[in-house]
Order: sequence, then structure tokens, then C-alpha cells
Amino acid sequence: MEDHNSGGRCAHCNCGKAEKKTAKDESVWIDTASLPEFPPLKGDQTFDVVVIGGGITGLTAALELVTAGKKVAVIEASKVGQGVTGYTTAHITSIIDTRFQDLLKRWGKTKAQLVATSSGAAVEKISQNVTTHAIACDFAHVPGYLYSERQEDRSLLEQEAVAAQQLGLAASFTEDVPLPFKTFGGVKFENQAQFHPLQYLHGLVAAITQAGGLIFEMTRVTDVQDGEPCIITTEHGKLQAAAVIMATHTPITKMLGMQSKVAAYHSYVVAVRPAPSEGVPGLFWDTDQPYHYWRTYTTSAGPLVIVGGEDHKTGKKSADPKECYERIKQYTCKRLAGQPMYQWSAQVFEPVDGLPYIGLAPRFEHVYLATGYAGNGITFGTVAGMMLPALILHGEHAWQALYKPTRISFSWGALKRQIEQAFDIMKNLLFERFRRAAKGDAVDVVPGEGKILSMDGAKIAIYKDAHGNVTKLSPICPHAGCIVQWNNAEKTWDCPCHGSRFTAEGAVINGPAIKALEVK
Ligand code: FES
Repeated sequence: MEDHNSGGRCAHCNCGKAEKKTAKDESVWIDTASLPEFPPLKGDQTFDVVVIGGGITGLTAALELVTAGKKVAVIEASKVGQGVTGYTTAHITSIIDTRFQDLLKRWGKTKAQLVATSSGAAVEKISQNVTTHAIACDFAHVPGYLYSERQEDRSLLEQEAVAAQQLGLAASFTEDVPLPFKTFGGVKFENQAQFHPLQYLHGLVAAITQAGGLIFEMTRVTDVQDGEPCIITTEHGKLQAAAVIMATHTPITKMLGMQSKVAAYHSYVVAVRPAPSEGVPGLFWDTDQPYHYWRTYTTSAGPLVIVGGEDHKTGKKSADPKECYERIKQYTCKRLAGQPMYQWSAQVFEPVDGLPYIGLAPRFEHVYLATGYAGNGITFGTVAGMMLPALILHGEHAWQALYKPTRISFSWGALKRQIEQAFDIMKNLLFERFRRAAKGDAVDVVPGEGKILSMDGAKIAIYKDAHGNVTKLSPICPHAGCIVQWNNAEKTWDCPCHGSRFTAEGAVINGPAIKALEVK
């Protein structure tokens, strides 16, 4: 599984060490877990609740609902865990991307406290699920550290420790950050955790099915109608349900108001086999923008240090995904002696005001959504998995006002981000869509690459595989009409507007789009 060819000298940071050439293009979680398979939906059926999406949000919610006696179906477009959860780095943390100092300034002490309470409750919920359902997923409590490699960040870190303490977290400034390279102190947070995310999902799946819940894989939802009952149309039949949870990372179908309050970002990960002295005992995040994040995981072949960063907006024209992989490897290579064994990327949705949106979907009465987790997918996926069942079962939850999808933030930072997001979308729709592409044909595309070219006056997204087979597609995203961009590392077409992603042949990988790129 981890057999990589030996190569020449290190190409990442000129450190002079011998390099094993190829990191496996796969998430370590997907490579080291095997989940049970479930059949696609067959025909029409009726449930109390239909959960769309078999990741951490959907499965956590489904388990809560079946435990409460509800008849539940989980509908997954591909395989359980393989949408987004299988590509996280699975930091289980009550320390969210927004600094506690900023949370206090932006939201005030009561709301900031509620954020800390809810994210801490998510860590506790995962721990409880692991114990209650005897889930073997290498769950372990570890400390977390926010650290810096710059001396001038010391006062920021000291202030962050004070802000965290004000919110009741077990946090303290420390000079002693246990990383195998020089740092200038950090904030140590107790009681964080880590696990193997797909082994955890395996345990949730077992608990859901034992309690009578049904899971359907390879079943894409194509429409959701609110009502009594709600009607959920899929490729393989229609479902009726009293309530629907869209646990799809960002809501599928057109919810443009909601979808413009989050921006899709790509983040890059490399897993390195460290030298014996290179311990990384915990979760680590630095103060860079975008920040780097670290943790370890031990496979049957030995320990891995998993490092992520180099985030950029999905589909950004100036970003080169291959270079992003190279930069995260360079960054890691300068700090660890080990060899890259795996590399993968993930997509996150950044909310404009720093908090996720979890609750009833705008203008719907029985359809719930959860999105905008930023880099805290495991934490907020679990928060949503706790909150949404409570809203369905009891009509209320203590955190519902905080995470309400219809909230409007009047802070300057949130307004600025929302304007930037709207500007990027309009620029694509009005300029990119009608900008002329270079004239050309399939002969102008290198095997294994994709390119948007102008043919007979129309823009065509052309992909040529390694054997010379050509696929010609419309580059117009079926979600809302933006022009997709070629991702040269993942071999995908990515939409810069709301984060839809498509295979080189045009099939949907991630929504909000529910239809494939049109074949030309
Ligand atoms: Fe909205 Fe492409 S994802 S237009």
C-alpha cells in the first residue's frame, strides 16, 4: 500500500536528502479503511426523516434520530464518507478557525461562550459515541497548540490564551511547543482529540443500521420539495418525509442567497513518514494566513505526520494546484526529515462572518441545512448532527439563534467578505462567461490535461486522457452558469462561484450542482 519508488535528490527544498519520488495520490483515511457497501435506492418509499449525505453531519444526525425512534433513510450520492469526511485531517477540536479574541469582539462574550460550549460539546459527543457504540477508530484525547514561528506573534498568542481562559477553556501560553523545529511559543489547549474519521463513520453506520436506519449509496438526489410531506426526488425513485436534512457540505440545488454567504476553498495535505525523533504529539495550527495544520496517525506501516495548508479559493484562475502540492511539500520538507507517503486535497466552505450556518433552510419549513464549517468540519459536523435532530424532534435548541442560516452580520469584516464573494461571482458570470477563449482543438491539449478552448465560436472544456481519448464538455456550471476551471493536480473541473466540482468527464463530484457538465 505504501510502496513508493526511490528517486534522486529532494526536489522540494534543496535539503540534499534522497527522495522517494511519489506520494500516493489518496487520503490516508480512504486507503486504510473499508466501510460496508449499501445498495442504491429502489423505488418510492416513505420515512420520517431523509438525510441527504453520508458524511459526519448526516450520520451523526441519523444516529440521533433513529435512537429517538424515527424512521430514517440516509441517501448518499457516492459512498459513505467519500464525499468530504474522508478528505479531512480529522482534528477534533473546540478551537475553531476564528480566533477567540475576534469572537469576543465580533459576537460578545455570551455568544462567544456559546460557540466554545457547542464546539466543546461536539468533542464530548464524539467521545461518547466512541464509548457507547464501542467504535474502534483510534480515538485519543490530545492537547492542541496554536503556535508561531515568528517572535512578533508572541503578544497575539498571549492575548489568545487570555481570551480562551475568559471563555472557560483550559488554555495557557507556553514557551514549550513540542514540535521538532523552532517555534516562538504557543497556546496550549487541553482536551482536544483525534481519530480515524472513516473508522468512526464505520461505527456510526453500524449503530444506525442496527437501530433500523437505512442507508442508500450511489443515489443522487435531484430535487427537494418542501411540504407535508417533503418530496425528495432521486435518480432511483421518490421519497416522502416529514423532514429533510441536507448534510451535503453546502446545500444542493439553487439556494443562491445561502450559497453566496460561504466561499469554497481548497486546502492541500501531505502525510510524511517521519524520522524516529520527529514526534508531533497533538494537534497544531500556526498563525500564518492561510494557516498550516499538523497531527499524526499511525498506520500498520508506521507513524505518519499529516500536514496541511496552502489554501486558495476553489477554481481561482491564478492558483496552480500542482504548485500548491509542491509548496506544502517544501514547507514540510524544511521542518521534517521524513518522506511524503500520501497527498490529497480537501474543500472547505468559509462563512462570511466566521460561524457556520446550521438550521432551517431559508424559505423552507421542513428542510434543514448545515454549511460553512471552515476548517472545523469534524467539530461543526458533529454540532450540526446534534442540533438538527433536536430542531426536528423538539422544535428548538439552545444554539439555534447563534447558527441560524438566515442571520445577517453587520460587522465590517463580514460585509467586506460578502461583497468580495458577490463580486467574484458577478465577475465570472459577466466577464469570464463571455470572455473569448483561445481558438483551438483537441490537438492543442496535452494528454492527461484539460483546457477551455474556443471552437466554432463556442467555449468548450476539452479533456484528453493519457491514451488520447477526448471528452468535450460545456464549461458552463449547471448550478448557476459560471465557467469552470481546470484543476491540473486532481484532474477535475472546479467551479469558482459556489464550489461545485466535476470529474474530467463531467460527472458531479461535489455540489451544489446536481447535474453533470453537458457533453458536447
Ligand atoms: Fe454555482 Fe457553479 S457552483 S455556478
